[in-house]
Amino acid sequence: MLQVAGINLMQQTQSIKDIDITNKRILIRVDFNVPMDKEFNISDDTRIREALPTINYCIDNHVKNIVLVSHLGRPKSRDHKHSLRHILKRLERLLNKNITFAETIEQAKDLQNTLDNQSIILLENIRFYPEEEQNDTEFGKKLALLCDVFVNDAFGTSHRAHASTYGIAKFTAQKVAGLLLKKEIDSFAKALFNPIKPVLLIVGGSKVSSKLALLYNILDVVDKVIIGGAMSNTFLKALGYDMQKSLVEDGLLEDAKKILALAVQKKVKIYLPVDVISTNSLEDNANIQTSPSQDIPQGFMAVDIGPATTRLFNQVIRASQTIIWNGPLGIYENPKFSRGTFSIAHTISDSYAFSLIGGGDTADAVDKAGERENMSFISTGGGASLELLEGKILPAFEVLDKKA
Ligand code: 3PG
Repeated sequence: MLQVAGINLMQQTQSIKDIDITNKRILIRVDFNVPMDKEFNISDDTRIREALPTINYCIDNHVKNIVLVSHLGRPKSRDHKHSLRHILKRLERLLNKNITFAETIEQAKDLQNTLDNQSIILLENIRFYPEEEQNDTEFGKKLALLCDVFVNDAFGTSHRAHASTYGIAKFTAQKVAGLLLKKEIDSFAKALFNPIKPVLLIVGGSKVSSKLALLYNILDVVDKVIIGGAMSNTFLKALGYDMQKSLVEDGLLEDAKKILALAVQKKVKIYLPVDVISTNSLEDNANIQTSPSQDIPQGFMAVDIGPATTRLFNQVIRASQTIIWNGPLGIYENPKFSRGTFSIAHTISDSYAFSLIGGGDTADAVDKAGERENMSFISTGGGASLELLEGKILPAFEVLDKKA
């Protein structure tokens, strides 16, 4: 049976709109973990933009002050590269407000006492404190001293039981979901609870292992599954094809067979690549070939779906009403191997289906295809959206207040 515990739990959770926040000190856990180039230019500010409604809601409702807490990357220690100062200007511009930067929690606390009402404070990267990822109890307590109300709006980090997503809640009187968290959950609910049929799941990416739990869970709700990307190599090998030098998870061949059999049992149609683009090397001067999936040239590896597969997959997409997409269908970062993934993105954008796009690589691929604006919903969470689709309860959801 389809597991949707995480979504169910969140639907019973209080949101910031359910409580009185007037004149309260609000700590919002946001996910400002955005990609940047070497000069610290933000290449995709979606996560910052998606946090704005909750921040603006607090301003509109006359809170006392707001402390924004986020991580950026996976720093080993305090360093310039991972400083949240890099996002300060963009945030100020998007909010059209001045924001005060706090290097430390102590400094944020002092600022709360000295700044005017309704000020916004951005705390430096919370992962500069090792206690954050350790979910240290004392550290959670210290963070909680910054607020009367803890708001979690960091959907992308909800699968982490860290001090600022989990531990803090134990020491805060009121802990509620932000508007982004609610929006994410509503979109997943729309795709999984009584979705308009036919429902299509598109899975890709490099590893079957990372999508196994998702496949087992979601076969109960979908009508069709397209499998592409390197993970389809494992399925094709399970069918007996010689995948040559393609990336295959040999330890998962039995699981692949099990999923194919389960799909037949549940009357779910599975679509695998009928042809592939393959190459003998990922270097610039590589030899690139198109062949049926059964005839990959000796020593070559599959890196994209072929033209016949692209047509087939596009036909399946056009006949679907709800589409859940998680994982690119080839090495889309390389323009030579991006055609399949981009074509699928264009077809989804042209369709009338409700399209739910998993975060991370899939969101990036959709963006690179120029189709960001044309999807129904793009999740801001990569790992988090995957765990939600697996039916898990994300740790950060558990600790929020439930509706009476
Ligand atoms: C993400 O980018 O998926 C989130 O910000 C979580 O980051 P993490 O995987 O480093 O915890």
